[in-house]
Amino acid sequence: METGNQPQIDYWNGEVGQRWAEHRGALDAAFAPLTQALFAASGLAPGDRVLDIGCGAGETTLLAARQVAPSGRVTGADVSEPLLDAARAREAAEPVGAAIEWLKADVQSHAFEARFDHALSRFGVMFFDDSAAAFANIRANLVEGGRLRFLCWRAMAENPWVALPRAAVMPLLPDSEAPSPDAPGPFRFALRETLRPLLEGAGFRDIVFEPVNRTMRVGRTPEEAAGFVVTRGPIARLLRERDPAVQEAALRTVVDLFAKLSGGGPVELGAACWLVSARA
Ligand SMILES: C[S@@+](CC[C@H](N)C(=O)[O-])C[C@H]1O[C@@H](n2cnc3c(N)ncnc32)[C@H](O)[C@@H]1O
Repeated sequence: METGNQPQIDYWNGEVGQRWAEHRGALDAAFAPLTQALFAASGLAPGDRVLDIGCGAGETTLLAARQVAPSGRVTGADVSEPLLDAARAREAAEPVGAAIEWLKADVQSHAFEARFDHALSRFGVMFFDDSAAAFANIRANLVEGGRLRFLCWRAMAENPWVALPRAAVMPLLPDSEAPSPDAPGPFRFALRETLRPLLEGAGFRDIVFEPVNRTMRVGRTPEEAAGFVVTRGPIARLLRERDPAVQEAALRTVVDLFAKLSGGGPVELGAACWLVSARA
């Protein structure tokens, strides 16, 4: 089925998707404390069928596969070819002993072949053109009583790892427009009031929002941390169609900021998400 997701499909198959694939180890390391929260009490058991929504380079798919091995099955679904390629390569390098299907699919509309006991996601549910349709599709592909569990970001102001570098680069982008709060993007579900009706409308029940606050190691050095937030993280969206000189200046500004904050060592800043769980 045609969806309005083409701009996101282009985004995640373009330069940013390539960079996510290339730097997957650093991203997984930065997200580690958040990933732990997603998998603590995940309820996954051997034999379960699991959908990883927007699986990216597959770390969470592989973690789920280990928990459902040997008889379970995990589908890692994503629209990004470079990220799925990275995921396949990773599985080949570290087999997990459970069946994994890597599927290029738009989760908003894809009719999966089998129903799942669990659907989970680490930051993969905020990019749908039609979130109501997407959550309804996820619900329709879960068994009755199946569980949905995902991480999404709370407000940018509660996430200094983005808010501080963003404030530093904004003077370089005087003409930039504030994004619409409804547009696909990392912070669109910052408010429970936005997300709850979408999940209820899709037929989910027992919806729980658990705040997860962690210190995130954004990078081992100011350069690595700035590379993450400026070229792959949320600030990459602001800079994507900018002159290379502006992109370069933004990167330098954030390296300087992080060097000041960290004294040149690892950059550790606060991250705030929702861990959302619900039952089909
Ligand atoms: C912020 S990344 C998170 C990736 C991965 N879950 C992780 O934590 O490393 C968002 C992911 O959602 C995927 N995505 C965006 N829209 C999608 C859609 N309509 N269907 C499936 N995946 C989608 C992107 O390609 C990207 O891999």
